[in-house]
Amino acid sequence: MPVITIANTKGGAGKTTAAALLTLELSKRGYAVTVFDSDPQKWISQWLETAGHHPLINVVSHVTPASLECHIRDMRPNDYFIIDLAGEKNQITATALAYSHHVLIPVQGSGMDAKGAAKILDLIAQIRQQTGLVIPHSVLLSRVNPMVTTRSMLAIKGLLAQRGVEVMATPIIERAAYRDMFDLGRSLYELDPEKCSNLDKAMSNARDFSDEVLKLLPSRIISSSRAPRHNGWNRAA
Ligand SMILES: Nc1ncnc2c1ncn2[C@@H]1O[C@H](COP(=O)(O)OP(=O)(O)O)[C@@H](O)[C@H]1O
Ligand SMILES: [Mg+2]
Repeated sequence: MPVITIANTKGGAGKTTAAALLTLELSKRGYAVTVFDSDPQKWISQWLETAGHHPLINVVSHVTPASLECHIRDMRPNDYFIIDLAGEKNQITATALAYSHHVLIPVQGSGMDAKGAAKILDLIAQIRQQTGLVIPHSVLLSRVNPMVTTRSMLAIKGLLAQRGVEVMATPIIERAAYRDMFDLGRSLYELDPEKCSNLDKAMSNARDFSDEVLKLLPSRIISSSRAPRHNGWNRAA
């Protein structure tokens, strides 16, 4: 019953795209997925209204730190919880991080504008310092130019590894399909391959990304392994 939070205090980092791809892929494989949309813009909720007609997907659009705790406590077996955070640091940020079995931090592969990611890394370190809670996390390279060579990707990963930051092996590639699915309110599998270039590559990238997440976080993780200690981590927000 893993809780996965997608976090970066910067807007446009690729959080909602990663959350949407993961939600679709996990539900396609038969997992029940609850998505927490904590962004006031409600992008993923709006998108799932039209694109996510799937009985295994449940969306919680009104999220407060208290409601997050209630939902996570009541979770059913085999559920994945995906928390799509807003592009700012607020009270929900610390609560979501503290409940997470894994935090994915999208960073745009090209610009490497990592300030928003650094804020999340700092907060994770702060929670650990204050409460002893270790929150597993990885940087997810996002919007990576498909022309970027394996060599330069390895260089970026090496740089982050030197700083002790785990990096997901699968980056999210910049694909027209990932834009189109939001523009048209459709899932990847409802797009027209005649009109959307490299749709097959986008699907394969989404599958690889989800495979890696599933390997990292099999659904049998027990919820009690996350037991945030309120006094410490709430102050961290
Ligand atoms: N891998 C990608 N390929 C193409 N467009 C992308 C990709 N990732 C994000 N985008 C586009 O960039 C914008 C911001 O992405 P989004 O996932 O909403 O970021 P965030 O949730 O971090 O604010 C959206 O218009 C989205 O469609
Ligand atoms: Mg978003």
